Amino acid sequence: MQRELAIEFVRVTEAAALASARWMGRGDKDSADQAAVDAMRGMFDTIDIDGEVVIGEGEIDEAPMLYIGEKIGTRAGEVPKVDIAVDPLEGTTIIAEGRPNALSVLAVASHGSLLHAPDMYMDKIAVGPDAKGAIDIDASVEENIKAVAKAKGKAIEDITVVILDKPRHRVEDGLIEQVRRVGARIKLIKDGDVAGALATALPDTGVDIMMGIGGAPEGVLAAAGLKCIGGDMQARLIPRNDEEIERAKEMGIDNVNEALRLEDLAAGDEIIFSATGVTDGEMLKGVRFQENNAITHSLVMRSKTGTMRLVEAIHCLDQKPLPFDQEF
Ligand code: FBP
Repeated sequence: MQRELAIEFVRVTEAAALASARWMGRGDKDSADQAAVDAMRGMFDTIDIDGEVVIGEGEIDEAPMLYIGEKIGTRAGEVPKVDIAVDPLEGTTIIAEGRPNALSVLAVASHGSLLHAPDMYMDKIAVGPDAKGAIDIDASVEENIKAVAKAKGKAIEDITVVILDKPRHRVEDGLIEQVRRVGARIKLIKDGDVAGALATALPDTGVDIMMGIGGAPEGVLAAAGLKCIGGDMQARLIPRNDEEIERAKEMGIDNVNEALRLEDLAAGDEIIFSATGVTDGEMLKGVRFQENNAITHSLVMRSKTGTMRLVEAIHCLDQKPLPFDQEF
């Protein structure tokens, strides 16, 4: 994949962020998501790739755009054949409520490199480069925290674990209780575990480990981002019924109970990851609307070189109006 494509993919997440940011705090997560999908889909068609959506908005019968298997890009001439994982709006409830950490995010990788993750839950553990190799999805919470503390040369009491604040993690002897028993600190987030996972690898976030159960598609996106930064992640699918087990098999995962390592989630060194902030977060600022322009903040990374680019863009809305019609 040519490196110039990285800037093209930033334009895609910028467009989705700009479109969905207008919906901040309006209590309408579906419209916010739709705006992001429309903008992202439109922008993809301008890029010289032969892309296939492997993680998207759902099955063809559930999603009119960015459905799994959809072909996108100009697809003309000698263009790279790539797999695409998208979450046009990661944190639909976040934007509806005007909370922090909503992102527009995508990962593009050479064909066959990204896990075709079904839309189900996934147990995840993620860390930054300084704890790479220290985590094991089969080990206990205590063992993982101790191993990460050792790798980072920190006291256990100074380790911060980011966890989605969901009832499944609050049950008796559940994840939150187990982490407290070990003595580590906890940062609870209501939604948005892609940002949570990446925070473990970015400077100055104060987060050391992300643990817990969230969406499998978000898991692959986080893994792609961590792959670019040199972090680490392991996971396991959590199917809730036979239908989900069947679905995983249809998508090429024969053993749903298998531990998934970083290379199983996002393989190779031909990955480009782009995220644009929709609402303010630790990783990226959200969209700022001004009189005639809007400002976006994005992070774009390539696994081949490990370069992380922070892109601040000023979009002149009087010259280039947002490519959609919105009524509130
Ligand atoms: P949406 O953008 O689909 O709302 O996802 C937000 C999110 O918090 C993800 O970051 C996370 O992986 C997943 O939802 C967790 O799912 P649930 O809300 O069902 O616990």
